[in-house]
Amino acid sequence: MLITNANLADGRTGIDVLTDGDRIAAIGANLSVPEGTEKIDAQGQLLSPPFVDAHFHMDATLSYGLPRVNQSGTLLEGIALWGELKPDLTQEALVGRALQYCDWAVAKGLLAIRTHVDVCDDRLLAVEALLHVKQVVAPYLDLQLVAFPQDGILRSPTALANLKRSLDMGVDVVGGIPHFERTMADGAESVRILCELAAERGLPVDMHCDESDDPMSRHIETLAFHTHRLGLHGRVTGSHLTSMHSMDNYYVSKLLPLMREAQVHAIANPLINITLQGRHDTYPRRRGMTRVPELMAAGINVGFGHDCVMDPWYSLGSGDMLEVAHMGLHVAQMTSQAQMRACFDAVTVNSAKILGLADYGLEVGKRADFVLLQAADVVEAIRLRATRLIVVRAGQVVARTPPATAVLSLPNRPPSVSWTLRR
Ligand code: FE2
Repeated sequence: MLITNANLADGRTGIDVLTDGDRIAAIGANLSVPEGTEKIDAQGQLLSPPFVDAHFHMDATLSYGLPRVNQSGTLLEGIALWGELKPDLTQEALVGRALQYCDWAVAKGLLAIRTHVDVCDDRLLAVEALLHVKQVVAPYLDLQLVAFPQDGILRSPTALANLKRSLDMGVDVVGGIPHFERTMADGAESVRILCELAAERGLPVDMHCDESDDPMSRHIETLAFHTHRLGLHGRVTGSHLTSMHSMDNYYVSKLLPLMREAQVHAIANPLINITLQGRHDTYPRRRGMTRVPELMAAGINVGFGHDCVMDPWYSLGSGDMLEVAHMGLHVAQMTSQAQMRACFDAVTVNSAKILGLADYGLEVGKRADFVLLQAADVVEAIRLRATRLIVVRAGQVVARTPPATAVLSLPNRPPSVSWTLRR
């Protein structure tokens, strides 16, 4: 397959991309190709590596309204609601909903997802279901599972044993939730236990960390400490980190270099953070999202996650990582050209780095995975949440969407004016 005349995310224009089997064979201008090669004219539109969601909950997705709707809209009511739903979960329903979401994801050019899976149900139904889904979708979507002890490994009597069992079953990443343990001390202890477990097993770590408006929730400091102590540099991720929004500036000026030293990745979940945080405030009401531009400026790798789609915590969403980038850009006020491009990176290359996707990227020799967008560049892609015209996985087209076009019929105009949403 030859894609001609594409714009790339790094600003290059008029570029051809040639695939050979499942690999990218060449990238350059005016590539010559053998007779019979399938050609797709990109027409000066953006060809990007696929979107990557660094933080999701596929066991809960598409369960909105089951068994009821979250009335307060808070994180804690969401957790309680999920607890009500868990006993009624079935393998069949979990698999069905997850596969449906993966279909949505592929259509949106989202071809890699790190999903947390709750291990606090002793039956480990969701773990079994998502391990099955991971296998089913493997030809077209990289699914990575995190053993997530929703109720806390010290607060819930069976959570740690279940977490270890789920790792034995093939779950990829050690999760945690220190701010939900009973005390700050227990939270810190949970971070130590889980980091040591990951070090023993040679696994990455990705914890829900400080998803709170409490500026004294400082488990990220402990996470960076144990990451450094155990030599887990580059393998550990702090998800959410919303308490950082409310922390004292002086303390953050000490914290960021510690995170940088330990090479801890950070994940913000803009749609969910702006919805769930600040719920106990009157006015002024805090945004709650972590300090994305400051983290990036400190040399810390930051990805954006979708976190939730139609579940006990969030009633909206569609698997569109451009919607996530759009919200992140607004909440963090990242409006310069460079910052907007950084928000695009947060849903592509930065998140791929968090997942450790070795075969990712628009480079010769990498797997031929990419998305053609109905936009000229990454800023326009975010502005329009641009249509994914073609999604390619391993050299094969796996999804097509017709370009968005409106046909107007207005008074005092020619009877029919056609325009595309790009201009
Ligand atoms: Fe989460």
